[in-house]
Amino acid sequence: MSLKQEIQKRKTFAIISHPDAGKTTLTEKLLLFGGAIQTAGAVKNNKIRKTAASDFMEIERQRGISVATSVMGFEYQDLLINLLDTPGHKDFAEDTYRTLTAVDSVILVVDSVKGVEEQTERLMEVCRMRDTPVIIFVNKMDLEGRDPFELLDELEEKLDIKVRPLSWPISGGHTFKGVYNLFEKGLNLFSANKTKIERDVVKVEALDAVELDEMIGTEYADQLREDVDLIEGVYDVLDKEAYLAGKIAPVFFGSAVNNFGVQEMLDTFVRLAPTPLPRLTNLRSIAPNEERFTGFVFKIHANIDPKHRDRIAFLRICSGTFERNKFFYHTRLDKKLKFANPATFMARSKNVIDTAYPGDVVGLYDTGNFKIGDTLTEGEDLQFQGIPSFSPEIFKELINKDPMKSKQLEKGIQQLTDEGVAQLFIREAGSRKIVGTVGELQFEVIQYRLEHEYGAKCEFQPKNYYKACWITSDHAQKLDEFKRIKATDIVTDKDGNDVFLAPSKFLLDMERQNFPELEFHFTSEFKTAVDSAG
Ligand code: G4P
Repeated sequence: MSLKQEIQKRKTFAIISHPDAGKTTLTEKLLLFGGAIQTAGAVKNNKIRKTAASDFMEIERQRGISVATSVMGFEYQDLLINLLDTPGHKDFAEDTYRTLTAVDSVILVVDSVKGVEEQTERLMEVCRMRDTPVIIFVNKMDLEGRDPFELLDELEEKLDIKVRPLSWPISGGHTFKGVYNLFEKGLNLFSANKTKIERDVVKVEALDAVELDEMIGTEYADQLREDVDLIEGVYDVLDKEAYLAGKIAPVFFGSAVNNFGVQEMLDTFVRLAPTPLPRLTNLRSIAPNEERFTGFVFKIHANIDPKHRDRIAFLRICSGTFERNKFFYHTRLDKKLKFANPATFMARSKNVIDTAYPGDVVGLYDTGNFKIGDTLTEGEDLQFQGIPSFSPEIFKELINKDPMKSKQLEKGIQQLTDEGVAQLFIREAGSRKIVGTVGELQFEVIQYRLEHEYGAKCEFQPKNYYKACWITSDHAQKLDEFKRIKATDIVTDKDGNDVFLAPSKFLLDMERQNFPELEFHFTSEFKTAVDSAG
């Protein structure tokens, strides 16, 4: 098969949601449809119910390095679908953001009772940064949820994206009758716990046919007629280009746990969702069909068993063909590396592969060569963009509790932050270390891992910072002046960029006024903006 054909076969996506909306359940149903698993309950729930490090560690230990849950490949209608897993816990949101850099589209699950929740909004913001195409699945229609029109309005308003329903629920909660497929004009009648994989749809030639009344009762049939009239009047036909540009999201209604309405969505997904897309580097955009291989690391999974301190770096292939035992160029280290046992993942099994293609995710055994964002090529010196660090929410200073073990601490914190567990900022004077995270859980995880894997003891001293701001300016003198005046709040990130730790919003606004020559960025992404503008 040619490279072009391989690319056309692939769709790489992630399912995202606020915790508890039904991401794990939907994942499982998709895998069932794809034949990748045979029974329900086979997908390990990666949810951390209690926010204690020990629980997290236990889950990680069980998962071990069986990263099968990180990438789940399955075949469906002659396509190869790569589903990338994202963590269920909000403290690991940063991990999810990074995974989103490696996909070409997403399915967003929304709980019909709760509507758009906090995490839904934040995840969508990240999708919009890259104009990632989104399909929305409104889940739990078997529960007494909100009015579907009201939900659509809320989706448009809070997620700042246009929506277009492609299926429509007939009632909801205990009177939920099923969904009407607005595109194929078919009716799927609800029954709990559907296990059938084949389509189970009654074709409805015309909505005014009496058969409809017979099937769902006149009251619901009339309501459906009225709703469909309204939908066709209010919403334009779905514009595929607008979907691919991330401007409009098709919406489906269903119940994942009952396996209901899922197939409608999956069939549309395979029809609409993009095949591997081009990606931006510091030099140029890379098209997937370029013959020369390129790829980047978006996730590093450590084996937390101290006896096997290996890690797996997840590489998204962007162009060309990845080959086993072939030397590739690690651009940051300026070094050639080859991989004897690269693995891909089909549902729960891991397979060593000889070749992989754009859209695929390959797991590379790593002994410390990789950091998140690293690029591999066939020799060209370039760096993939768009794997930003976001400003953390919580900041603490790392204090060494055992001076005899400073080296171990140094190495440990470096490796853990390379993995992306947290962000490390160094304050030059005295090389003090400030660790920034999205949630409290990471601090416990870091402390636990430093002790168990590196034999180093530490504690964290809370620091009252509001945001980390990456600072840039065309006026070198002004930048220096700012850095001098604010020396106590200036740190550098892992790549040596200048970062201002703003103590409060008020003080940040003040500095913005005092130093109009400076730019304050909430993500490290600003380089892309500079590059693409230039
Ligand atoms: P998450 O990964 O997004 O966090 O959500 P998950 O799939 O774990 O689902 C959260 C809860 O919602 C689960 O119940 C799940 O069974 C339930 N759920 C998922 N889809 C539907 C649906 O369509 N209708 C209804 N009524 N419930 C749904 P749980 O009690 O938290 O866990 P479990 O013991 O059932 O696994």
